[in-house]
Amino acid sequence: MSKFVVTGGLELSGEVSVNGSKNAALAVLAAAVLAENGISEIENVPDIADVKIFLQILKSLGAETQFSNHKIIIDAVKMQSSPVPGELSGKLRGSILLAGALLSRFGIVHLKKPGGDAIGSRPIDAHLDGFRKLGAEVLENDAIEIRGKLEGAKIVLSVSSVTGTENLIMAAVLARGVTEIRMAATEPHVQDLCNFLTAMGASIHGTGTPILRITGVSKLSGAKFRLCSDEIETITFCAAIAATRGSAAISQVNLENVDAPLATLDRMGVRFVCHSGKSRDNGRIEILKSDAPYRAIKIVTGVFPQLLTDEQPLLGVLATQAEGQTFIHDWIYEGRQGYLHALMEMGAKVVFEDVHRARISGPTPLHSAEIRTPDLRAGASILIAALIAEGQSIIYNAEIIDRGYERLDERLNSLGAKIERVN
Ligand code: EPU
Repeated sequence: MSKFVVTGGLELSGEVSVNGSKNAALAVLAAAVLAENGISEIENVPDIADVKIFLQILKSLGAETQFSNHKIIIDAVKMQSSPVPGELSGKLRGSILLAGALLSRFGIVHLKKPGGDAIGSRPIDAHLDGFRKLGAEVLENDAIEIRGKLEGAKIVLSVSSVTGTENLIMAAVLARGVTEIRMAATEPHVQDLCNFLTAMGASIHGTGTPILRITGVSKLSGAKFRLCSDEIETITFCAAIAATRGSAAISQVNLENVDAPLATLDRMGVRFVCHSGKSRDNGRIEILKSDAPYRAIKIVTGVFPQLLTDEQPLLGVLATQAEGQTFIHDWIYEGRQGYLHALMEMGAKVVFEDVHRARISGPTPLHSAEIRTPDLRAGASILIAALIAEGQSIIYNAEIIDRGYERLDERLNSLGAKIERVN
């Protein structure tokens, strides 16, 4: 197990660029399984643990893959639907995406219930109900077996689940006839999945909206695709720079995907300027230095384009430096407040209303602590807290942060932070 030893109190400055989206990478890699001929080339892939585990799973099912310089080449032609190895799928929630992909291509899938972050109960009933609507038979015990020849249907999702929507899109693109998915998730990674599948030959209407109309096709082929820039990583850097009262630029940003978190930062009094780039993922945000106190506001999460639950802990740490009482309401996961318990060990003043709502009073100087991070985004939030805490903090199980961020320690160090990785 690695740990980060963080010396706090340094202002960040300079420039850092954002990588491709983790959650888009997992969805697009799952979709690459659907190519019966041709290879897929996926660019702008973050070099992170979750992607590497996903590739290991694909290899174990017969895919040929190469990963270098943020590009994955994948040949799925010889893949088979053998049971997904539980020791690998248990490591990441994204492995559930193989349910839709393998079912769609082979008519059968056998996998263990997925693992992932400890952010709350993460049911998959909406995925399974959707598969049943498409005509599949679902056998559930410790593992899940799903089989059947799929027929298009109307599916109204009970909850706008990201991976649930992605699974049903992948199931529908090869199903016979037309499928309508209503209450579909609209997150940028879902849009990337739709755009990649379209490049593979799928027929999807309504990409980016909550109503998707998919006409099944008989075959999909490998395609070239560039993943969108990671909106959560973008906000991680914004929050880190603003928290240290630094001034730095963030490049390779997709500005269309960060409206809500940027509006939240603006309401909190963070000063920044946005510059759009020549292409979608080439925008730039400059965080400007400010010594004025940040403002306490109401932070409420929703579904895209509203503020995402994954962005909430990054803004929550900034709220410890805001004057007054910040109210946070995140309805999505009952375990999302783990990071606030960690911040309290560093001096944050937090009152919990219930598992979804908390009040943070500030501004509070944070002090160093030794912390074990409960989940990925909590890890990033605690790392930001350590950057502004007085003294030297230790964050144990840094691997949790590596799951979703590529070399976050080194990239923050390039902005002037002092984070040492100790193995
Ligand atoms: N839900 C149900 N039934 C279902 C599925 C979900 O009730 O069948 C509920 C959950 O209880 C939760 C909400 O729907 O309240 C959303 O949860 P879900 O488990 O569906 O999220 P997910 O699709 O598995 C993705 C991201 C998460 C992100 C969430 C929410 C991937 C691989 N993961 O998870 O990303 O938090 O959407 O936006 O795309 C992260 O990147 O750190 C991360 C955890």
